[in-house]
Amino acid sequence: MKLLSGEIISNEKCGKGLYKIEVFSPYICRNANAGQFVNVKCSPDGILDPLLRRPFSIYNVEKEYNVFSILYLEKGKGTKFLSDLKKGSNLNFAGPLGSSISIGDRSKNFLLVGGGIGIAPLYFLARTLIQKGKNIFFAAGFKDNNFIEWSGELTRLGINYRIFTEDGSWGDEGLATDFVKENIKKYKNYKIYCCGPRDMLISMQDILAGKKISVTALLEERMACGVGVCRGCAVKIKDGNGSFVYKTVCKDGPAFDLMEVIFD
Ligand SMILES: Cc1cc2nc3c(=O)[nH]c(=O)nc-3n(C[C@H](O)[C@H](O)[C@H](O)COP(=O)(O)OP(=O)(O)OC[C@H]3O[C@@H](n4cnc5c(N)ncnc54)[C@H](O)[C@@H]3O)c2cc1C
Ligand code: FES
Repeated sequence: MKLLSGEIISNEKCGKGLYKIEVFSPYICRNANAGQFVNVKCSPDGILDPLLRRPFSIYNVEKEYNVFSILYLEKGKGTKFLSDLKKGSNLNFAGPLGSSISIGDRSKNFLLVGGGIGIAPLYFLARTLIQKGKNIFFAAGFKDNNFIEWSGELTRLGINYRIFTEDGSWGDEGLATDFVKENIKKYKNYKIYCCGPRDMLISMQDILAGKKISVTALLEERMACGVGVCRGCAVKIKDGNGSFVYKTVCKDGPAFDLMEVIFD
């Protein structure tokens, strides 16, 4: 991990409050792997408001251009600051942070299940899996059609996918998790990765309970230090002896075996 600064190549709106920022960083492009994130300073030089850096998944890495990107939703002060940054200015960030997802040679088939902005880290994972010649199905669920402009990027990956929206305004009406539930037999030999709101992850746990299917969740707990010191992002993980241990999302994660996560 390094404290870095990189030129903003573009920072474009691609939905209501949804942006993609592209940043020049040979270091991130050389060192980042799927599942990792960057901790971004979201305030002007010399000003510490907001005080804490904001974590964002690495959405894409284009090694040939030394450019990585973040897909983000404007939520509050930090992301508003990000959305106002102009092409040609600099982004300050620390990274890559978190542990990488290790993709073994044994698994050939992967089901990626993303909810809302949770699709961001799965996109980088999908690109990594494609490079390794894996078979991927991407199920993405949204509240409405706000991500419709983004979907061109998903189409360009050339993988099979289905879109679900809660209001039926795009793709199929319903939840991505209902799709997983209805088709779980079909995916019994797949390795599953999911990222999205807590309720979605809890539904995935319910669906997969007792199924003996490998399922990894990328958690997005609120963070402070981002490097395993403050314990602010600690989550309960089953220890195999009927009890649990606390692990940090920023250092031990963000990827965890979903069936070992205790949501309470
Ligand atoms: C490992 C990790 C990866 C992430 N990747 C992405 C990403 O790729 N794209 C993206 O848009 N966001 C991502 N997030 C969430 C992102 O960090 C927050 O949206 C951001 O910190 C909000 O900052 P803010 O100052 O704009 O909002 P704040 O003023 O801090 O908060 C505004 C609202 O957003 C909510 N919020 C803040 N942090 C989170 C969070 N972690 N999860 C859910 N709600 C939150 C708050 O509860 C509040 O309602 C990620 C978070 C983590 C921990
Ligand atoms: S944010 Fe400080 S330990 Fe994870």
